[in-house]
Amino acid sequence: MDTDTIRRETELVRADWAGRGRHWDRRADEIAEQAARMNAPLIEAADIAPGQQVCDIATGAGEPALSVAALVGTEGRVFATDLCPEMMLGARRRAAAQGLRNITFRTADMLALPDSDSAFDRVICRFGLMFCPAPARAAAEALRVLKPGGRVAYLVWGPREETTMFVVFVAAAEAVLGPLDEVEEIDLARPFSLGTPGALASALTEGGLTDVEEREVRFAPRVPADAPFWQAQFDMTFGRALDGAGEAKRHALKEAVAAGFEHLREEDEVPLSVHVRIGTGVKPTG
Ligand SMILES: C[S@@+](CC[C@H](N)C(=O)[O-])C[C@H]1O[C@@H](n2cnc3c(N)ncnc32)[C@H](O)[C@@H]1O
Repeated sequence: MDTDTIRRETELVRADWAGRGRHWDRRADEIAEQAARMNAPLIEAADIAPGQQVCDIATGAGEPALSVAALVGTEGRVFATDLCPEMMLGARRRAAAQGLRNITFRTADMLALPDSDSAFDRVICRFGLMFCPAPARAAAEALRVLKPGGRVAYLVWGPREETTMFVVFVAAAEAVLGPLDEVEEIDLARPFSLGTPGALASALTEGGLTDVEEREVRFAPRVPADAPFWQAQFDMTFGRALDGAGEAKRHALKEAVAAGFEHLREEDEVPLSVHVRIGTGVKPTG
């Protein structure tokens, strides 16, 4: 992909996330709790330890940056980075509320990090790499800022049809709003662009990392059917599209999503499946 196309695509992504910022800010505390289970395998894969200098890319509402700041302790530091300052509002608020002093927020594209070469022990990224139009170049940029022997760990969605929440969302949105490729404000393709097994590992290898590994992580939570478990993700996914759509459409879409989950209900619970993929790589020491 040439530089102009990358720039144009990145601008589209930036505008999209800027429009979603307030919805993510509003849900920042809630999603941090809900998605805590996503942090554990990523933090383990990254081999985070006290004292490390860590760059969290595409930090959004602040995870895993805030959890990692607590782990690296006062001798370590986290540099939380995102393309959109609007997305980091909730992260800044939560960092202040938690009294975290070892975290710095910066606005930056993952393709052009504001750091010197070999600055970090670890580069991590949760649900961000797939939004970059040139993921192998983003991996090369992570390699540049890593110390020799340092490690990257990326977490991305697996195939869309293997995570229940998105299956229900897509069916509801198509029923209420029409074919999704015609609804400009909703992009339910890009988040899954690295979901095919092997795609993440290929990007990391092409970016120059060694010892590249990719693994599948699946969760099968059973959530209480009467709890509003899907509302935060709903707002974050559809909030921008519905901002100008009017109350009737918002209501119809919510009803369709609720009906979709109700259909899956087993007694008091809804069984969900979640498929994410984790890719790791190391900067060669030689
Ligand atoms: C799904 S959110 C992930 C937020 C957080 N890491 C989490 O897991 O909850 C995706 C984030 O990627 C950011 N992003 C998209 N493209 C980016 C780029 N080229 N460089 C840095 N951040 C980017 C967006 O602004 C957004 O905050």
